[in-house]
Amino acid sequence: MSPFLLTRTLPEDATEAALRADVLKGLTHTPKTLPPKWFYDAHGSELFEQITELPEYYPTRAEREILVARSGEIAAATGARTLVELGSGSSEKTRYLLDALTGLHTYVPVDVSESALTQAGHALIAQRPELSVHALIADFTGGLSLPGTPGPRLVAFLGGTIGNLLPVERAAFLSSVRSLLSPGDALLLGTDLVKDENVLVRAYDDAAGVTAAFNKNVLTVVNRELGADFDPGAFDHVALWDAENEWIEMRLRSRTDQTVKVPALDLAVDFAADEELRTEISAKFRKEGVRGELAAAGLELAHWWTDGEGRFALSLSVVR
Ligand code: SAH
Ligand code: TRP
Repeated sequence: MSPFLLTRTLPEDATEAALRADVLKGLTHTPKTLPPKWFYDAHGSELFEQITELPEYYPTRAEREILVARSGEIAAATGARTLVELGSGSSEKTRYLLDALTGLHTYVPVDVSESALTQAGHALIAQRPELSVHALIADFTGGLSLPGTPGPRLVAFLGGTIGNLLPVERAAFLSSVRSLLSPGDALLLGTDLVKDENVLVRAYDDAAGVTAAFNKNVLTVVNRELGADFDPGAFDHVALWDAENEWIEMRLRSRTDQTVKVPALDLAVDFAADEELRTEISAKFRKEGVRGELAAAGLELAHWWTDGEGRFALSLSVVR
């Protein structure tokens, strides 16, 4: 058995081309935007791990609490032999599922961050030499193809990462996940829930400034990859609650009038003082909304579990 296999389905030059296209489109759009998947270079992945330990950032702890309590039920309901995890990051919370899924054959972590996958993969095989791990460097929004491992398959999408997609993107994503599933397969989905605005905003604007550094890291990625001259110190981190859309919106606000050059795109971008660049949303959910979005993709919500304080939910859909 080969315990750790890493497959790249995202060619490095395609990543580069996609970054150029996204940055060109985003920085010439009104209002200016930059898409979230570029947050997660090695440094971004490391900063995200620090976020998960912040006192203000409750989602990781709340989801871990649910996994501790419910992994046995999830294992019983799915009998999964293959666990696919989308946006797996450090795979830290996944170990509760791995422990509970006694018949598991292969774990397939999927992430755009190669550094996160190799670190998590090596830690896993050190702790579980009997587990076969087939990591995929891939974009979960871009038509995944999975290795031919035995079913039933359980696809897990944790961390509330689905909230980082816009509603239309979520619908397309859920349909594409549904198309990967056969009868007997299941989707385990983590969603952060609507709650007090102050609690939400603090989770995305912590006192230690780690989330601000994470948000600004996207500028550093564009500097490194496209030769841009963003000064991260010339932008302020902004997190605000959009009550109509029920999402947190992260922005970077220009402190002054400034022009940023992006040589690889032959582009000069003017920012007015106080102009905001939108970087990420993090949508918050309600049970009936999740049920409806799953149903629209042909998935039926079978279980809904929350933490004791009702901050976060895991839902399980089993395909019939
Ligand atoms: N599941 C982990 C990590 C969540 S952070 C947890 O719950 O703590 C989001 C993860 O998704 C990061 O590791 C990031 O690299 C990955 N990611 C973001 N956009 C992605 C995309 N389009 N395709 C694949 N992975 C993506
Ligand atoms: N999936 C995480 C979330 O929405 C990602 C995240 C946490 C994030 N903090 C952030 C993204 C700050 C951008 C900025 O909670």
